[in-house]
Amino acid sequence: MKIAVLGGDGIGPEVTAQAVKVLRALATRGLHFEMVECLIGGVAYDRTGHPLPPATLDAVQRADAILFGAEGGFQYETLPRGLRPGDALLTLRKDLDLFANYRPIVTFRELAGASSFRPEIVEDLDLLLIRELTSDLYFGEPRGIVVENGRRVGINTMRYTEDEIARVVRVGFEAARARRGKLCSVDKANVLESMELWRIVTEEVARDYPDVALSHLYVDAAAMALARDPKQFDVIVTGNLFGDILSDEASMLTGSIGMLPSSSLNAQGKGLYEPVHGCAPDIAGKDLANPLASILSAAMMLRQGLGQPQAANLIERAVRRVLADGLRTADIFQPGCTRAGTEAMGDAVVAALAALE
Ligand code: IPM
Ligand code: MG
Repeated sequence: MKIAVLGGDGIGPEVTAQAVKVLRALATRGLHFEMVECLIGGVAYDRTGHPLPPATLDAVQRADAILFGAEGGFQYETLPRGLRPGDALLTLRKDLDLFANYRPIVTFRELAGASSFRPEIVEDLDLLLIRELTSDLYFGEPRGIVVENGRRVGINTMRYTEDEIARVVRVGFEAARARRGKLCSVDKANVLESMELWRIVTEEVARDYPDVALSHLYVDAAAMALARDPKQFDVIVTGNLFGDILSDEASMLTGSIGMLPSSSLNAQGKGLYEPVHGCAPDIAGKDLANPLASILSAAMMLRQGLGQPQAANLIERAVRRVLADGLRTADIFQPGCTRAGTEAMGDAVVAALAALE
């Protein structure tokens, strides 16, 4: 099993290193991975002049799965488009057609008190947000900053074809069927035609899933419902931009964005696995970052990309164990717990893993 490891910028490399450490620890259980480290993002730009060098593209094409850290940095924000670190990630998503982005929002019981929400609102929350990842305003044409009548105009295009909608909504229905049988589709059909089509196509796809209870919410109401009573949701499916915003909101229900893993899959099941958090340059290299989102992303990779569900379960159990033992990075720290750095957290997960049956 070949894994392309793309640590990237900021805290990306240090959290990814913990996930790699946990994956290597599976060797004692007979699982061996060939891990190929590649440059991406700002660090790739600094060394090669491009955030997504050909060698990296080549390696990700050959790999069975991609483990990604984070990209970005203030110093790159004024580079021309195409050379910014974020463009590398967006290109990867588009080139590999990773349209189905799974963002599980799970509040570990031990962390309910670390959330800014009341514990009873978020305790034992388990919802899955599925975000479309290769279309919408992110990729629609025309786009750009142009000059019209002597003044600048910024342009982006919200655009969805019916098949782009159908395939991601289908992923939502399949996921709901395998869980608690409830799917909420989030759109803005009252205002936007692209979203009106989203709702029409969703209703059409629903005919194949009579066993799934489908509901619809406008995105503004969904943002409110997520904060008011998040446990009403099982699976949410939504477009690229709305999913970006709602997943950051939802991360706060779990205590920290440092807890949120994700997977992004194409129709062939090839995937990129990454924490939802960004590169956090302010804490990079200080052994402060929470590596659990990256470690949990590795678990998703084992389950969805590499056909190793038992190993995935083991990693998730090890993470629970470490949290139950009271170990906390700064972002999820609570009085009475033990403070751990990035490395120590990774080591603790490895130790917990070793102790599991
Ligand atoms: C995310 C991120 C990305 C996005 C950025 C880094 C381009 O915010 O994965 O949620 O907007 O999709
Ligand atoms: Mg985001």
